[in-house]
Amino acid sequence: MASTLTIKDLRVSVEGKLILKGLNLEVKQGEIHALMGPNGSGKSTLAYSLMGHPKYKVEGGEVWFKGQNILELAPDERARLGLFLAFQYPIAIPGVSMANFLRTAVNAVKGGKTNGNGGGGIPIAEFRKMLTEKMELLQMDKSFARRYLNDGFSGGEKKRAEILQMAMLEPEIAILDETDSGLDIDALRIVSEGVNTLAGPHMGVLIITHYQRILNYVKPDFVHVMVDGQIIASGGSELAHQLEAEGYDRYVKQAAGGS
Ligand SMILES: Nc1ncnc2c1ncn2[C@@H]1O[C@H](COP(=O)(O)OP(=O)(O)OP(=O)(O)O)[C@@H](O)[C@H]1O
Ligand SMILES: [Mg+2]
Repeated sequence: MASTLTIKDLRVSVEGKLILKGLNLEVKQGEIHALMGPNGSGKSTLAYSLMGHPKYKVEGGEVWFKGQNILELAPDERARLGLFLAFQYPIAIPGVSMANFLRTAVNAVKGGKTNGNGGGGIPIAEFRKMLTEKMELLQMDKSFARRYLNDGFSGGEKKRAEILQMAMLEPEIAILDETDSGLDIDALRIVSEGVNTLAGPHMGVLIITHYQRILNYVKPDFVHVMVDGQIIASGGSELAHQLEAEGYDRYVKQAAGGS
């Protein structure tokens, strides 16, 4: 049976201000969803809330995944359950290579244990084999694994790192928050191709963006429009094209009019 992420009436505040105002959304393994909406509508707030960021206070609602309300779980437990959350602004960790970072992440998420001596967890040979396979699948240069995490990475390379991490963790549901500013066409293409390569019956994807252009590369099964902390319209990929042509005005007015 396909795993489903079910968000029910989610309300979240940031620094005392209510941002998510009763959000409902269901994402199944095997489906690609795009969540779109104007700046400040609360898209990233949703991503951070799903991740369990301490700054985002859940005021109400539930998020169910595999029979658990994940809002009650720590971020690492959410990841072990099969959720992947890519960050809008990934941090740099100088001195930690991509490969080491990925091995730590794979061990943490896929249940392996480390004993502090570098032993335990996924055997190094198996890890290397998997890393090579995934990098070939994503057509990434081998030298990339030796780079230090995000240290001096271009926007495109950061995206590549994110997609590689997603490939290694093999999540059931991946949530990708794509910022508009600074995401050049190259980075956009990397994310889109990665999603197209990795998405399939075993992975569901929620792409958060307000950049309609990403949808020229990824064809979502469902498109949702978020305004003022709620999803106020949902449809197929045609909705994205309509948004591209008309913008969000109609939806913003609709939300403001309360109807
Ligand atoms: N850490 C924070 N501290 C203070 N306010 C915040 C914080 N995070 C979000 N907000 C506020 O919450 C609202 C929604 O912001 P959010 O970043 O979720 O919007 P968004 O839909 O992701 O916008 P964008 O399209 O620009 O990425 C904004 O008014 C923002 O100022
Ligand atoms: Mg955002």
